[in-house]
Amino acid sequence: MSDYETLLVEKDGAVAVVTINRPDKLNALNAAVIRDLGEAFAALEADASVKAVVLTGAGEKAFVAGADISEMKDYGPSEGVAFAQQGQRVFDRIQYGPKPVIAAVNGFALGGGTELAMACDFIYASAKAKFGQPEINLGIIPGFGGTQRLPRLVGRGRALELILTGDMLPADEAYRIGLVNKVVPPEELLAEAKKTAVKMASKGAVALKFAKHSINRGLDTDMDGGQRIEAESFGELCATEDKKEGMTAFLEKRAPKFQDK
Ligand code: COA
Repeated sequence: MSDYETLLVEKDGAVAVVTINRPDKLNALNAAVIRDLGEAFAALEADASVKAVVLTGAGEKAFVAGADISEMKDYGPSEGVAFAQQGQRVFDRIQYGPKPVIAAVNGFALGGGTELAMACDFIYASAKAKFGQPEINLGIIPGFGGTQRLPRLVGRGRALELILTGDMLPADEAYRIGLVNKVVPPEELLAEAKKTAVKMASKGAVALKFAKHSINRGLDTDMDGGQRIEAESFGELCATEDKKEGMTAFLEKRAPKFQDK
């Protein structure tokens, strides 16, 4: 597909695999990676042939070892705000975008790496993956949504403990606290993530989009607001060809053929 300085994007049927490709720097997020991620996800959103995405890191060692410390070192306050907001915008695009995104965490996911994985819809991890928010050891805090997404995923106490200590969490522990959905042997990680992506890609794109929308936007509001979003999404789906096809196929005892409209 398209060329990016810091990413590989490969399409296999309806699934795209995006690989962050700076293995010599443990795929650390510099401005170029953040820019490329924003552009790549915008292009994937616009590409109707892609229905689900897997995001991973190049090399054996890391998913993403954090924001690029050598770039951040000289930032003053206004550059710090701008850098955080730029990352937040790109990560929001991943979370609030219309297509399912699985993080396949193949190694270290530290700082911006854990934050990026959390912006995906859910996380599959290699048994040798390690998660953590070590920013406190650098005299800073997470700036790409981590202080918000981590407590929403694992609860306030566990989020505070991770962010205030900077400790690393092995994959099985990340699974135990609900940060990770599945832990698999390293050599099976990508295949396992792709298998789930293929399954999701076989559903109707409009229903996938509204399922994500209801959950993500609903979690950002209260029960009443969330249920209103759900009901409106449900109503939108009742106007689709896919709803007609899905229900007709069920009653005719055959598999549905979704047209994504
Ligand atoms: N930013 C910039 N460069 C980074 C980086 C980061 N977040 N993480 C790793 N790198 C670079 C290293 O500087 C090194 O580059 P070099 O070969 O030019 O010296 C290269 O990636 C390999 O990392 P190295 O530290 O030598 O690997 P290691 O196996 O000894 O340690 C880690 C692995 C992940 C424990 C260690 O790299 C680390 O602690 N990284 C920073 C994690 C962090 O604090 N992230 C949050 C940032 S906000």
